[in-house]
Parts: sequence; C-alpha cells; structure tokens
Amino acid sequence: MNLTVQPSGPLRGAITVPGDKSITHRALMLSALADGPSRIEGYLDGGDCRATISCLRAMGIEVGVQPEALTVHGRGLNGWDEPDAPIDCVRSGTTMRLLAGLLAGQPFYSVLSGAAQLRRRPMDRVTQPLATMGARIWGRDGGRRPPLSIQGGGLQGATHDLPVASAQVKSCLLLAGLYAQGRTVVVEPGPSRDHTERMLRARGVGVESRDLTHTIGGPANHLAPLDVRVPADCSSAAFFIVAALLLGDSNLLISDVGVNPTRTGLLDALAAMGATVEQTGPRDQGGEPLADLRICPQSLRGAELGGNLVPRMIDEFPILALAATQAEGTTIVRDAAELRVKETDRIDTLVAEMTKLGADIQPRPDGFVIRGPMPLRGANVDSHGDHRLGMTLAIAGLLAEGQTTVHHAECIADSFPGFAETLRSLGAEVTV
Ligand code: S3P
Repeated sequence: MNLTVQPSGPLRGAITVPGDKSITHRALMLSALADGPSRIEGYLDGGDCRATISCLRAMGIEVGVQPEALTVHGRGLNGWDEPDAPIDCVRSGTTMRLLAGLLAGQPFYSVLSGAAQLRRRPMDRVTQPLATMGARIWGRDGGRRPPLSIQGGGLQGATHDLPVASAQVKSCLLLAGLYAQGRTVVVEPGPSRDHTERMLRARGVGVESRDLTHTIGGPANHLAPLDVRVPADCSSAAFFIVAALLLGDSNLLISDVGVNPTRTGLLDALAAMGATVEQTGPRDQGGEPLADLRICPQSLRGAELGGNLVPRMIDEFPILALAATQAEGTTIVRDAAELRVKETDRIDTLVAEMTKLGADIQPRPDGFVIRGPMPLRGANVDSHGDHRLGMTLAIAGLLAEGQTTVHHAECIADSFPGFAETLRSLGAEVTV
C-alpha cells in the first residue's frame, strides 16, 4: 500500500491518538496471568498488539475484542496451556522478548517465531541472561535469532547487569523472575520505560526499584486481575507534535497522552532545540501519568543529543530527525547504536530515505548528524516495512514542496491504525 501526501497548511484542531503500544502489550500479558478477568479500555488495536493477542490465545487464554475494550480471561500464573504449534509474534519484538521471559517460567515446551523482519532481530540479549537463570532456550545462530524454542521451568533468580538500556530485556527478565526461586535483580545502564514495574506493582507483585536497579522476589503467588484504561501513545503523538511545530500557524491539541517520564525524552530534546510543548491537566490514570498537549509552531535550533536521553526517546529518533532538518544549525545524535537493531537499521534507512527528500543527513555508527535548515522536496520514498519510518516520511511529505509517495505504508498500522484518517481530519491531503 502506498500513501501519497501533498504539501499541507497549518494543522489546527484537536485529536486523540491510539492507545500506548507498550502498555497494551503488558496489560494483555499480565491480565492473562491474573486470577480472573481484566478489562483493558483504550487499547491499541494495532498489528503488534494483535500478535500478542493471538499468541495468548494459542496458550488457551480467552481474549474478547470489542471496540471499547478487551476482556482477558486470566488463568493464573500456572494456568497457560502448552501451545501445540510455533507461536507467531509477526513483527513484534516486544511480544517475542516479553513472552520469552514468561515462557521460560512455564513448565512446557514452546517455540516463538515471527515474520522475516523479526527473525533478523537479535535475541541473545534475552536468551543469554535467561540461560544464566537456568532456562533451556535455543535459537538460530547459537541463540542469537528467532525462532526461539523454550523448555520452560526450573528457573533460579540471578543478577543481570544489562549492557544496553532496554525495557524489553528488563521486562523479560523481571517476568521470568515471577517464576524463579529467589531474587532476580536487573541493573540498567540508563532509564528505560518502566511500565512493567508499575503494572506488576498495581497487580500486587512486589518489585523494588532503586535508581536503575530493579528487584523481584520469586516465585510470585498470584497476580490480581485489574481493569485499566491505556493512555494515548506519546510515541504516536510525536509525529503530530513535530508536524504542528513545523507547519506555520498550526494550533493542535492532543488529549490524554501518556507522559511517563521514561517516555518523554522527545519533549526534552525539543526543549533543548528551543521549542516548548505545553502540558495541561496533568493527572494519573491507573498508575501512569497523563496530560493534554498543546503545540504551536516554534523555531528550532540544532542540538547535541545523547546519554540518558536516548532510551527515553528511543522510538522518536526518526521524527526528531525530521525536526532537525528544519532547525537552524547542526543536530548531532550519539549513543544511539540501538537504532540499528529496531524494525530496520533506523540509522541507515533514515539516512537513505531522508536524503531522497533533500535532507543533509550523515550516518554515524551510533547516530547521525543533520545540518539545517534544509528545504525538502517531494519524492518517492520507502518505509522498508518500518512503521515509524513510514510515518516520519509521511509527515515530511506535508512539509516538502511537491508530492511525496510513501511506499509499503501498510506497516503504519502496526502502531498507528487510522494515521492517514487523523491527518485528513486536520485538513491534510493524504490518499491511499
Ligand atoms: C519497547 C521498548 C523499546 C522500544 C519498543 C517498545 C517496550 O525497545 O523501542 O518499541 O515496549 O518495551 P528496547 O527496550 O529494546 O529499546
């Protein structure tokens, strides 16, 4: 599917964006482990979360899907069935890595596989530490890539010093810790998203976090069922934040956005570049902070971004790169080599596609350098099957002179179903 985008005027009005992907995955999995039914409102009905639902169903969990809510019939920590075929995580790294931790604790045999894109992604970051807990887990290339096969059970707590800040790895190990004898300790080198810790606590499991050290004592007895409402995904709001900052005379309100501080690195990066996104009505919803965001155009200057900011905005670098093309001066992103192991190598694919639009962007091993401001011109560009790259290129098309066509745009529905419709609701000319 191709998305054709025309240059756009200002974005004025109010929108909502779909539910948070990370929180939806976790709510599904923890509800499936709870003793009884849980209801999940405001969930993300995207490709990645659908993959999690079908994996859980393969293990005997009943999931009711209604437009207003999911109902997950939890069967307790030890109530899942052995799946009778390999489980398909499609393109979802979160599904595979978090389930790997849970399945290492289940007393049965399972195989996790996925689409070609996911089968290329590194899994030794979870298979190796799980093996130190006694997990019997195998993968292609000596445990480095999917499919993974897991003979679960018999886990012992261990201490893990993570080499990179990754919430997927941290969550995998804490979830395995639910089943391990003794303490499982995860020490992160930087602050990654903390939804798993918050949600485990909300369901009655003791997870202690001191700075970057997280401890869970196992085995856990039970998880309480819990009805939750998922906040709007700040990683999806990011595309509209940058669009409204860059399109003159915009005035955009995005409501009910999750503003967990482990996720709001983009707002800090934009502040370092001279732009403020106004947050109003701060509130708490089921243990996650929420606010409404108001965005008006502001001029940006280049900045150097790295260190602990990186994990707090790891999914926002593609759209940040677009903002940097319109900033006065040079933007340098460093310490972000993790971008190379996302849905695509996001440094190489970003450089290739943004260059086609006329951006001055150079790759580095751990990031990129962009010189701005640079006028963009419409072009034929490709998402490479990467939802966040696809959306970045579509927003670039709003700013560019002439028409932009984003090829292979169907992947956008992995995290943001209704993306084109939301743009159209603000008057943008976007056709499929
Ligand atoms: C996610 C964590 C991040 C992020 C991904 C979702 C999660 O990955 O890129 O989109 O839900 O835990 P890493 O933890 O591997 O950085």
